[in-house]
Parts: sequence; C-alpha cells; structure tokens
Amino acid sequence: MYDLLTGPGLWLSIGIFLVGLTVRGVLYVKGLNWQLDRVAYRAHPKAGIRGAFRSIFFWLIPFGTRSWQTQPFMTVLFFVFHIGVICIPLFLYAHNLILAEKLGFSFVSMNQTVADVMSWGVIVSAVFLTLRRLVLPEVRILSTAYDYLILFLSAAPFVTGLLCRYEIGNYEFFIILHILFGEILLISIPFTKLSHILLFFLSRGQLGMDFGIKRGGMKGKGLAW
Ligand code: HEM
Ligand code: HEM
Repeated sequence: MYDLLTGPGLWLSIGIFLVGLTVRGVLYVKGLNWQLDRVAYRAHPKAGIRGAFRSIFFWLIPFGTRSWQTQPFMTVLFFVFHIGVICIPLFLYAHNLILAEKLGFSFVSMNQTVADVMSWGVIVSAVFLTLRRLVLPEVRILSTAYDYLILFLSAAPFVTGLLCRYEIGNYEFFIILHILFGEILLISIPFTKLSHILLFFLSRGQLGMDFGIKRGGMKGKGLAW
C-alpha cells in the first residue's frame, strides 16, 4: 500500500492536480466576455492590469483591505490557516525527502519547530473556521455540507500528519492514511471550491480590472461607459 501510494499514487495525484488546475484556469479566461462582464479588458489593458495587481496585492496582506479590517478575528484565523496549508505541503522536510526520492526534485525545507507551530496553527484555525460556520447566523445560513467537507479535506492531512509526527497510535496505519488524505486533497482541488488556489487570483484580478478601468481608475478621462 505504501509503495502504491508513494509511487503511482503520487504521480497521479500531482498530475491530476496540475493538469486539472491548468484546465480550470484556461476555461476561466476563455469564459471571460467583456460585454457580459461589462469590463473593458482589452480596450484599456494598462489601467486594467494595474488595477488587477493592486487588488490581488492588497487582498494578500493581512488587514490590507477594508473587508479584512472589518473582520479582524476572521482575518487572523484565515491567515494562520492559509500560511500552514500552503507552506507545510511544500516546505516540510519529510515531504521534500519524499519528493527528492520519488520525483527527483525538492523545495527548500523549513525548520521542524516552525513546521510544528504552523501545523498546530492550521488545526486550531480549522476548528474556529468550522465553529464560525456553525455559530454565526450570517455565515451559517450560507453554509452547506459541502463547505464542511472542504474544511475536512483540508484539515485531514494535518490531523494524520501530526499523529505520525508525534508517533501517536499505529504509525504504519496513520502514515498510509496521511498519504491517502494528502492525495485525495490534491485530486479534489481542481474539481471543488479548492480550485480557488488559482481562481482566487483570476477572479480578484478580474474585479481589480473592473475597478482599475471603469469604476474609478479612469473616471473623468473620457471613458464612454
Ligand atoms: C501527497 C503525499 C504526501 C506524502 C507522501 C506525505 C508524507 C509525509 C510524511 C512522511 C510525514 C512525516 C511524518 C513523521 O514525522 O514521521 C508527513 C508529515 C506531515 N504532513 Fe504530509 N504527506 C503528503 C501530503 C500532505 C499534504 C497535502 C499535507 C497538507 C495539506 C500534509 C501535511 C503534513 C503535516 C501537517 C505533517 C506533520 C508536520 C509536522 O511535522 O509538524 N501532507 N507527511
Ligand atoms: C495561493 C493560495 C490560496 C489563496 C490565495 C486562498 C484564498 C482564499 C480565500 C480568499 C478564501 C475565502 C475567505 C473568506 O471566506 O472570506 C479562502 C477560503 C478557504 N481556503 Fe484558501 N486560498 C489558497 C490556498 C488554499 C489551500 C492550499 C487550501 C487547502 C489545502 C485552502 C483552503 C481553504 C478553505 C478550507 C477555505 C474556506 C474556509 C471557511 O470555511 O471559511 N486554501 N481561501
């Protein structure tokens, strides 16, 4: 089972992740329509691209936008969660060992204490993100089983990864479960809301273009609409 998951399973899951996400990105851009979206993408590319980068940049900074400032607790949860879910898969020493051995390349590895802190940060923030959906009426009304499934898929590799890290329970069982959850997560990214890993940048960029061109950016410069 271990050989299957770290051999063909690893290739397949990384392959589906990369190809699937590329297809989602291409379909998104092909689906843009300046008339339906009412965004003058091609007519004013300079103002548009400036607006796109501006919007993405400020959304990636904690408290960088008004929406981040109005919900400070959510902002902290969100950033602690995302720093971990992005950095741990890529920069954990144990992961890079496997990448180097199986795929012949690896990223830089982070210090183990930093990795532990980040992993616990993900667990704690995932608990609060789940509670937030259960408790706050304005979020609860929008939440379905699908939202909880996405949170579960994201947190499962962290729970099982930490069980292995601290050698709690049967290591052989939990490491297989860990790799299985990790690969299920990778495969589900292109097919679910987790595709926001890429689509966040595209939709944010698209909105930023709208603001950069039409809604403010070129106001008073003779723009027809
Ligand atoms: C897909 C293939 C994956 C493989 C082969 C793999 C393998 C491993 C291995 C060998 C360990 C070390 C366990 C130990 O300390 O004995 C580990 C730890 C861990 N992995 Fe993975 N993993 C995978 C995917 C993921 C993903 C996608 C995530 C998160 C999204 C993840 C999160 C973690 C965490 C949080 C730990 C423990 C971190 C710590 O040491 O503090 N893994 N993984
Ligand atoms: C560059 C990478 C990423 C970006 C820019 C990004 C951005 C975002 C944004 C903007 C939201 C919406 C926050 C809100 O409700 O206001 C979100 C939610 C979420 N993201 Fe990401 N994300 C990224 C990577 C990831 C990864 C790798 C995972 C998991 C493995 C993940 C899991 C989630 C989950 C579970 C939620 C929903 C949290 C909730 O239930 O409220 N994200 N992300």
